Amino acid sequence: MLDVQNLAKSYDTARGPLPILENVTFQMQAGDALAVVGPSGSGKSTLLYLLGALERPSGGAVSLDGVDPFSLPERELAAFRNRRIGFVFQDHCLLPQCTVLENVLAPTLVAPPDAAHEARARDLLDRVGLAARLDHLPAELSGGEKQRAALARALVLEPALVLCDEPTGNLDQDTARAVADLLVDLHQRQRGILIVVTHSPELAARLPRQARLRDHRLVFSAS
Ligand SMILES: Nc1ncnc2c1ncn2[C@@H]1O[C@H](COP(=O)(O)OP(=O)(O)O)[C@@H](O)[C@H]1O
Ligand SMILES: [Mg+2]
Repeated sequence: MLDVQNLAKSYDTARGPLPILENVTFQMQAGDALAVVGPSGSGKSTLLYLLGALERPSGGAVSLDGVDPFSLPERELAAFRNRRIGFVFQDHCLLPQCTVLENVLAPTLVAPPDAAHEARARDLLDRVGLAARLDHLPAELSGGEKQRAALARALVLEPALVLCDEPTGNLDQDTARAVADLLVDLHQRQRGILIVVTHSPELAARLPRQARLRDHRLVFSAS
């Protein structure tokens, strides 16, 4: 379970603290999925960075399956993030010198060795339609293919929490729809917790819960 209590973030600036998020409180169970929308600059990426323990909150608490990541020492925090959280960014962020298969296996390199990792990576790449591209470099893939490889990489360690920041933002409409289909399908198979920041009303509507960032608050749509 993801438990977010009174989460707050402000940045210190020359003109004093700049509030970005205030009083963000919600819970999600395994299998839940949430779309977060809101104007540019409203704090959507900041929210994902806090939930993914990439940034420290100014106040409040996050716990994932009972663990508060910010209570962990730095080294354990990195391991926790790698093992328990999958990220998909607007830009695929694949390593350019590594093949598709190597990119998907990258998160497993710092996890305890497990022969099942490669089988899972190959299975995911098969599901996202890249079985014939295992040995290709990212530069040899289309935008949609790169993002599909990034999805496989985010899911290879079966993370409890998957965070996607405008995952279809750089794709044309048809490609965006195909990537969204895969995202929803993979989430339903894996049954982790999925949070997707998106500007696409179409993608947002495909997830069971929607919330909007407005005036520093996360406001949930009535469901
Ligand atoms: N390090 C920082 N210092 C000061 N302000 C920041 C910093 N990082 C982000 N911001 C501000 O926080 C606000 C929210 O940013 P962001 O979370 O990226 O919004 P979104 O993803 O919704 O477009 C923006 O106004 C941005 O300028
Ligand atoms: Mg953003």
